[in-house]
Amino acid sequence: MVQAKSWVMVKHFDGFPKDSDFQLKVEELPEPKDGEVLLEAVFLSVDPYMRPFSRLHMKEGDVMIGTQVAKVTQSKNPAFPVGSHVVSHCGWRSHSVSDGADLIPIMADWPSDVSLSLALGTIGMPGLTALYGIEEVLGLQKNETLLVNAAAGAVGNVVGQIAKIKGCKVVGSAGSDAKVAYLRELGFDEAFNYKTVPSLEEALKKAAPEGYDCLFENVGGYFSTVALPQMKTFGRIAVCGSISTYNDGTPQTGPYPHFTMIVKQLKMEGFTQNRWQHKNPESLKRMMAWLKEGKLKCREHVTKGFENMPAAFMGLLRGDNIGKAVVAV
Ligand SMILES: NC(=O)c1ccc[n+]([C@@H]2O[C@H](COP(=O)([O-])OP(=O)(O)OC[C@H]3O[C@@H](n4cnc5c(N)ncnc54)[C@H](OP(=O)(O)O)[C@@H]3O)[C@@H](O)[C@H]2O)c1
Repeated sequence: MVQAKSWVMVKHFDGFPKDSDFQLKVEELPEPKDGEVLLEAVFLSVDPYMRPFSRLHMKEGDVMIGTQVAKVTQSKNPAFPVGSHVVSHCGWRSHSVSDGADLIPIMADWPSDVSLSLALGTIGMPGLTALYGIEEVLGLQKNETLLVNAAAGAVGNVVGQIAKIKGCKVVGSAGSDAKVAYLRELGFDEAFNYKTVPSLEEALKKAAPEGYDCLFENVGGYFSTVALPQMKTFGRIAVCGSISTYNDGTPQTGPYPHFTMIVKQLKMEGFTQNRWQHKNPESLKRMMAWLKEGKLKCREHVTKGFENMPAAFMGLLRGDNIGKAVVAV
């Protein structure tokens, strides 16, 4: 018998999440049956989608949704031998039993000098989001100018780096001077702190007086309102996220984008990365190759301890992280 811990959302979030919305539960797990495996969490992901998706897909009392890298510690399923690692969508759990159906084995030739935590970041869902947003939604072309916000985060930093690989001019905005310094280190052509610039409009104009061909939108709300008029005619916008609205009790209202979209003849497309999951094995290999060639750099914001999952999640929503926010058990 194994004692498993899990974090339950006891109350739907009202505005910004708080400690009292979460509760740690302990239960005994049964031995795995034929075809099943016992998993032990090694790294857990905290992601912005957990905030809006908790409202869409969870009820009070459910274990928090989420992904983790887990180690197989007991196995009655030959596809997942003891000691192997998988990505599991079992939520905020320290241990879990699975029949394997929802498990994704870690890439077979994962290099021993690359942390498995990156399977939750650059070589995982956020990296794929960046890649598909650029290639499938924006169709970014060499020499174009791309703007990305929340640029020092898990998705944003990969967006900027892939756009540089593709020979583009990249402008990034982020919420602290340390984040801006990191973007410069990554090779962003222009970067600014949206919280301290006197005028967001002027900062966007100064960074790209020629205007933007593409916007990789992670933030939405006010940023979007100011950025849209800075697009070139026929500009393209990939709507990946809208984090500035996730904790709103009352929805934000206008100015509305339609007139700007008409006069600039803009194309805006929302997407979720799972649309292209049939391409994931090839895409992950491609990004791992970029990483090994030094073209993709990775940074993580690691919180230690399963007991700190809620704090790590709230820290992410506050903007504490540079790079991917993960929890190491
Ligand atoms: N469509 C998809 O399939 C998909 C997949 C993954 C992620 N996403 C979306 O992509 C976006 C980025 O996700 P991520 O995983 O890379 O997270 P992240 O950027 O690592 O972390 C979130 C960042 O958002 C910024 N932020 C927080 N509150 C904000 C606010 N009120 N206004 C502006 N910025 C705020 C903070 O950075 P600053 O300090 O710079 O403000 C924070 O560090 C999110 O909107 C997420 O929902 C979409």
